[in-house]
Amino acid sequence: TVYRASTTAPVNIAVIKYWGKRDTSLNLPTNSSLSVTLSQKSLKTHTTASCSSSYTGQDSLLLNGEPEDIQSSKRTQACLQLLRRFRKDVEAKDSSLPKLADMPLKLVSANNFPTAAGLASSAAGFAALVRSIANLYDLPHSPTQLSLIARQGSGSACRSLMGGYVAWRAGSSKDGQDSIAEEVAPVSHWPDMRALILVVSADKKGVPSTAGMQTTVETSTLFNVRAEEIVPKRMAMMEEAIQAKDFPKFAETTMKDSNSFHACCLDSWPPIHYLNDVSRAAMNAVETINRRAGELVAAYTFDAGPNAVIYYEEKNEKLVAGVFRYVLQSVKGWDGEYGGQVPLNDR
Ligand code: DP6
Repeated sequence: TVYRASTTAPVNIAVIKYWGKRDTSLNLPTNSSLSVTLSQKSLKTHTTASCSSSYTGQDSLLLNGEPEDIQSSKRTQACLQLLRRFRKDVEAKDSSLPKLADMPLKLVSANNFPTAAGLASSAAGFAALVRSIANLYDLPHSPTQLSLIARQGSGSACRSLMGGYVAWRAGSSKDGQDSIAEEVAPVSHWPDMRALILVVSADKKGVPSTAGMQTTVETSTLFNVRAEEIVPKRMAMMEEAIQAKDFPKFAETTMKDSNSFHACCLDSWPPIHYLNDVSRAAMNAVETINRRAGELVAAYTFDAGPNAVIYYEEKNEKLVAGVFRYVLQSVKGWDGEYGGQVPLNDR
């Protein structure tokens, strides 16, 4: 018999950024973060997990058709070990169950967006990996309980196990048991929210986030204030903005936090530059839009790369998309394509 389960997981884009670890082996963050889950119609990872006593050899993963070396990936190994332990607990309670935890796993995973687009694919990837195996093993665990496992694959992955608006609570315990993700509001709470992804560069170069955040933790003079004072206040503000569907407050907090994160990067040594001239043109375009509107109707945010994600409300679609078409046409280095428009209420 081959036992099999499939699942999909969405991409999430943080509006309060995770940047910095207090424990690198358990992957515990120095500050809480909050993200918006993007529609799976545009961006998702699909993963099938199977196991069988007829499978030979080690666990394997095929990612977009290419074999991945998961044996030397500590993070993947940590996830697989925890999932097997949970399955063993389930099997111990019911001896009639097949001993799936002892069988080799075959994982087949694919993104419906180009991995090279520079979009955070590790979040959706680890979330799909964890959930597909949890389904295969028929684990009774909640998404929040599974977020503890996904977090060890990639921090941001713990926020991709839920829809809508998701907070990752940094927690304070040493073992990380309180470092979990939880849904702050479902996608249906704010159905007009939209995200526009501007692919500035499809290259995957630059400083990877894991290494970049360590450099920041070790060298940035701004970082401690950000982690200890600024972000806790902003988390509260962002949750209020979301509950009240207060877009100007949401936008201001989102842009300030993206800028604070990139300021810490620039303040690191050696300095880390994720934004380029095209990113700055996108920031200017958002400022132009907001000036024209007389209030904040668009918000930019940038992760560990030059691509912009613009949040806005559906009623401002024409204004936002129109200005982007007009302004970015003349910017060198911009390939003129939208990475994808992502209505968040189409699931
Ligand atoms: C800038 O989750 O990729 O996107 O835990 O080391 O895998 P690891 O880092 P990762 O970092 C994401 C950083 C960010 C901000 C965010 O998503 O909150």
